[in-house]
Amino acid sequence: MDDILPEEIPLHRSLVETVRLLFRLYGYREVETPPVEYYELFAVKSGQEILSHMYVFEDVHGRRLVLRPEMTAPIARLVAGKLSRSPRPIRLGYVADCYRLDEPQWGRRRRFYHGGFEIFGSKEPAADAECMVIFDDFLRRVGIRDYYFKVGHVGVHRAIMSAAGIEDDDQDTILGLLDRGRVEEAEESVRKLAKDREAATLFKEVAAHPAGPAIETIDELMAKLSKAERACKELENLRKIVKLASQVVEPARIIYYPGFARGLSYYTGFIFEVFGQGAEIALGGGGRYDGLVSLIGGPETPGVGFAIGLTRIMQYLTDRLMVKPQPDSPLALVAPLAEESIEFAFRAAHEFRRAGVPTELEMAAYSPSEAIRRAERRGARFLVLIGRREVESKTVSVRDLEGRFQEEWRVEEIYERAESLLGRTRVGS
Ligand code: HAM
Repeated sequence: MDDILPEEIPLHRSLVETVRLLFRLYGYREVETPPVEYYELFAVKSGQEILSHMYVFEDVHGRRLVLRPEMTAPIARLVAGKLSRSPRPIRLGYVADCYRLDEPQWGRRRRFYHGGFEIFGSKEPAADAECMVIFDDFLRRVGIRDYYFKVGHVGVHRAIMSAAGIEDDDQDTILGLLDRGRVEEAEESVRKLAKDREAATLFKEVAAHPAGPAIETIDELMAKLSKAERACKELENLRKIVKLASQVVEPARIIYYPGFARGLSYYTGFIFEVFGQGAEIALGGGGRYDGLVSLIGGPETPGVGFAIGLTRIMQYLTDRLMVKPQPDSPLALVAPLAEESIEFAFRAAHEFRRAGVPTELEMAAYSPSEAIRRAERRGARFLVLIGRREVESKTVSVRDLEGRFQEEWRVEEIYERAESLLGRTRVGS
């Protein structure tokens, strides 16, 4: 599992801050849940793919526990329990580390962060469309310009299978096959389990239909499936979602893949993933899961949401878009130049911090040239030199390392004058 190192933290933090800003902007209330859950929570409806990649262990009391592989089930647990009486719709957001026993490779880690958004209590297409709009907003804010939405709708497949009498569990297995690209096996299972022959043909027709710009492709498929009323209703739902999302998201970015399914088996309707230019794996994804809350023991509650793969996005930004990660650096470095000035430097440094200036203190005395070298190495913009002379006159020498000024401040002025340094900061920019 990965650690997050000092040079990675600022980029990670800025992605997290963007997610939190979006919580505010779109009305999501943030929640936190523990990283450890009961095994059963995920066994209910996450699907084989997730179950086979979970960290499962027993505690000393013999309880079967897991490190959470994702957050939708824990959030649904809240909605089924502690939040079951909250007025609907309820929008919940989270930033959480998740764990999957994957083979580490590019964009795939054993510990990674999800920034997620879930809406409970609305079946309206506007809820599904909002998910795409927020993701689009996020990508623009973090500087990713080249991306597209791969959209699908498992409600279409499920409608065909339900009409042919195929049970929910079997549907999940079949969609799992589809997700892993085992299309022929999926079709074969439908053929075997369906009570009417037409179902297999319809299923195949959907799975084999070529991907394309969403609205056109939906219309083509609707014409083809005109006899399958329930499947067409689901397509109509997808059409509404895409139409709404297109009010904000460029329509050319939305591509419908009729044969698309996702690895999690709780999905019942709209699904989507986001791909960046040159990223062969998804930067995030989500979809509608109308049965999950009631399966966990809560009231019948529709749900839709998505998770942004923050760790993968971070890797995409640094490796593909060449964003250079940089550690946080102090704005000012206070350097005593003599043993006798350490006490005064200690106090002066505190004045800078009182004024909100990130300030590091050298704990021993150095020569002026050594102090400059050390300040540059630390990435500080201002160097505050304190020699014997400064101690006597109760002043500090503030030097702009980019060469714009050098000033002498009285110690009681620091608090007021230090604020001006913040305006010239590169910290946080
Ligand atoms: P997911 O597609 O399994 O969906 O995960 C969402 C995103 O997390 C992926 O698109 C990817 O960017 C990132 N991700 C997944 N596994 C890894 C990994 N091993 N290393 C790094 N990044 C990874 C879910 O988990 C659903 N809970 C999403 C959702 C929310 N659906 C509805 N609401």
